[in-house]
Parts: sequence; structure tokens; C-alpha cells
Amino acid sequence: MDSQITTDSVRLLMEKNRRMTDTSQFTVPSGGLYPFQWLWDSCFHAIVLAHFDIGLAKEEMRAVLARPLPSGMLPHMIYWTREGDLVPNWGRESRGDTINSSWQTPGSSSLTQPPVVAQTVLRLYEADGDEQFALDTYEALKRHFEYLHHDRTFNNDALVYIINPDESGEDNSPRFDELLGLSFLQTADQSLDRRIDLMKKNAVCDFKAKTCMRHHFGVADVSFNVLYAEDLLALSELAYVLNNRVDSDRFEKRAKQVQKEIKEQLKFGDVYLSYDHKNKKPIEVLTWDIFMPLYGGLLSHQDAKDLVNNYLLNEKLFLSEFGIVSTAKTEPSYDPESGFWRGPIWLAPHWFIYKGLQRYGFKAEAELIKEKTLTLLAKSGFREHYHPVTGEGLGAEDFTWGALVVDMN
Ligand code: GLC
Repeated sequence: MDSQITTDSVRLLMEKNRRMTDTSQFTVPSGGLYPFQWLWDSCFHAIVLAHFDIGLAKEEMRAVLARPLPSGMLPHMIYWTREGDLVPNWGRESRGDTINSSWQTPGSSSLTQPPVVAQTVLRLYEADGDEQFALDTYEALKRHFEYLHHDRTFNNDALVYIINPDESGEDNSPRFDELLGLSFLQTADQSLDRRIDLMKKNAVCDFKAKTCMRHHFGVADVSFNVLYAEDLLALSELAYVLNNRVDSDRFEKRAKQVQKEIKEQLKFGDVYLSYDHKNKKPIEVLTWDIFMPLYGGLLSHQDAKDLVNNYLLNEKLFLSEFGIVSTAKTEPSYDPESGFWRGPIWLAPHWFIYKGLQRYGFKAEAELIKEKTLTLLAKSGFREHYHPVTGEGLGAEDFTWGALVVDMN
């Protein structure tokens, strides 16, 4: 697939998935399976759209920041539906759950997703220096990050905890099996049932995160925290642009503290692992997010090199014909075909890995990830995820994450 074909097909896909409401415009990840607005997906969309139309990219971010919960938290889904619209609830209708009861808040979910919002807003600001855009978005960003800092931390620590697997962006990742009481052999339905049941338990404690984290589920997720630190740094820069030195210093200090604690508390042996607060132990399951510290620049050059050689390029663990698997091949949960986050290749992870490799100057390795991404798109089009050995497209169709290839440069 040459680069012009890719650019043209990305542009077409983004147009196809664009939706208008009375007040907003946004992009759905996939018109069929995912007809709402998702938090981190919209950041990916804005990054892609900025390559074609900075105005649309800003609209996407304005929309995703428009519906915070009263706490200030940005929800992981905004439905933007009108009364009477038919919406999928991924099979939960049979249990009598509506979309609102499953995810607990009318109009949006009660969960969040990994923070990429501030980095994205900063990128858009840097593209054309639009201070009004920075000003308009700043308060919503700040409230979200204050919420995370106050409600998602323990004691005086800076690391933040997630209260449901869906907040990691990797819904059924085997990282969460033990906490959900599931064996490594499970169906997608069983996993969704447990996650929805967890929503119900958290609703009982009124989503008071500290209580939920202590009693039900609290994980210091590696990806979430790496992105959180990067986002705090971006927020600090935005505050600086807006001449708010007090905020700027505060968020920078907080970011550095998060990075320090990731290094001190989430490093186990030669990899970074998510930490289970309830059982007070690291989650010893190897998934692609061990590469996220590259994206966050948290490793020494030598450690980064070792991680790339020993894990990323290791065909027994993560490297496959068509890219980097979401769960290591050595895990008992590894299921390359129908595993969802338990084996198949996903392309936002490819983009994070590409950026991480680039950050460390590993040009050839970054190029390899890009080539594999292009090969997948040429072979199977824009799909949700892909079989690592055959390259077959799996899951949702017209799925947007492959569009990030235009930002692999
Ligand atoms: C799936 C993914 C999640 C994504 C959503 C919409 O649930 O696991 O990360 O945000 O689809 O694309």
C-alpha cells in the first residue's frame, strides 16, 4: 500500500465515521459496533484529523471534553443519542440491562479511559498556536486531572488507580482475570458480565472511587500511569501558554512525582507491571503494555535496548509475522484468534510502540512496526484487531485505529 493510497483511505474512513449532533461533531470508532464517542479513541481521531484538517481535530476534542461528570471526570463513552435511538449494549439486553444501567450514568459512562487528552490538545495548540482553543479546553482538562489526583490515589501517593478493566482501554486483558475471579479460559461474555457486575458494585458505593478501589477493584495500571504523567506534563505546558505559572509548576511537579513512583513502585525485575492494590501484589501477566515506559521515556537507553531486544523483538514472546501481539505468546490466556485483547494485534498499541521506539532513536525498529502496520492495512483493511499469524482482520469493521499510521512519521 503506497502512502498516497493510505492517506486517501484514511481520509475516507474518517469522513465515513464522522457524526454530527445539534451542538457537536465527533468520530465514531466504528459505525457498526461502536456508534458512540470514546475518550481515548477521540484523541487518536484528533491526532489523525490534524494531518488533514486542524479545525475538525479541534471539534473532536471540544466534543469529548463537553460532557464531564459532576466530579469533573471525563467519561469513557458519551452516547450523544436521542431518545428512541437503537443502541447496542453488547448483548446485555438479554439480562434486562440498558446501556444506561450497564454503564450507570444517563448519557455517558461512569468510567474513564487512559488519559491522552492533554497531550492531544497540546499538539493541536502547537500546530497553529490557537490560544483561544487552549483557553477553551483548559478548565475541563484541569478538572479531570484534579479529579484523578484527588479521587484515584491512595494515601499521599501520586500513582492513579483504575476501578474497572475497561478503564485501561483493554477491556478483557488477562491482566485483570484474577481480580475478576475468572480463569484464563473464559468467553467474551463471561468477561463482560463480570465487568458489568463490577459496575453494579461500584454503583452501590456511588462510584466513590476510594471506596470502590479498596473493596472491589483498584489497579495501578502501567499504561494509564505512563500516559497520566505525559498528560500532566502537557497540561503544565498548556498552563504555561496561558500564563498560569502556578498551575504550570504544580502539574509539572506532579508529573515528575508520578514518573518517580512508576519507577519505584511498578518495576519488577526487568519489566514494569501493573499493581493490584487489593491483593497487594504486582500482576505478573505479560502484555504489550510493558512497552509503554518507552513511550513515556522512563527507561535508560540500555534498559530500553534490552526491553526491545529481549521482549519486543522476541518471536517467542511478542513479535509475530504481522506485528506485536497484545498478550505474550507464553501466557496461558494467549488466544490469537478470538481473544480480543488476549493475543490479537491492535493498532493504537502499534502507534504507542512506534512513538516509544522513535523517542529512543530506534529507527529501524520503529520502521518495522510501521511496515507491519501498512502490511496489515493493505491485506485486511481497517479492522479492530488482527490475527498475528495470518493477518486476518477481526472484530469491528471500518475501525479507526489503523488511521494512526498517518502519524507514524
Ligand atoms: C473497545 C476497546 C477500547 C475502545 C473501544 C472503542 O472496547 O477495548 O479501548 O476504546 O473499543 O473503540
